[in-house]
Amino acid sequence: MAKILVIHGPNLNLLGKREPDVYGTANLSDIDNRIKQWAKENNLGIEIIQSNYEGEIVERIGKARDVFDVIVINPAAYTHTSIAIRDAISGVQIPCVEVHISNIYQREDFRHNSVIAPVCAGQICGFGAQSYLLGLNAALELCCADHGDKIE
Ligand code: DQA
Repeated sequence: MAKILVIHGPNLNLLGKREPDVYGTANLSDIDNRIKQWAKENNLGIEIIQSNYEGEIVERIGKARDVFDVIVINPAAYTHTSIAIRDAISGVQIPCVEVHISNIYQREDFRHNSVIAPVCAGQICGFGAQSYLLGLNAALELCCADHGDKIE
């Protein structure tokens, strides 16, 4: 069974209460329950973590080698600053999908740059909590699709 690691970065534990006009009203356990349901439907193993600490996220990525097939990460504010998380992703050599709830390109200038995106397979942003499910489907494509219907 393929295994996906989902990482929520800083302040995402506050979802639901935090700027609901930007991030919506679903809280993190609503999102995590939906992710677990999706994993069950797709017969995939899933582990979900949330951390407000850069070093903890770096460690979890480093320990993912040989355990997880894909990582789905919302690095939150670390998206724009963390070379340490970027290096952890490029070092671990597990395909990674970057997700954001909001459309970071419609927001303040400092959010327009992701230092994480260049080391990810791709990025999904702007679809609210649904961005996670879109990201998971992209992850499924990366780890498990037989590509029988691939368009080239
Ligand atoms: C976010 C966007 C980031 O710019 C911000 O710092 C977050 C959440 C999102 O999911 O839209 O904390 O990653």
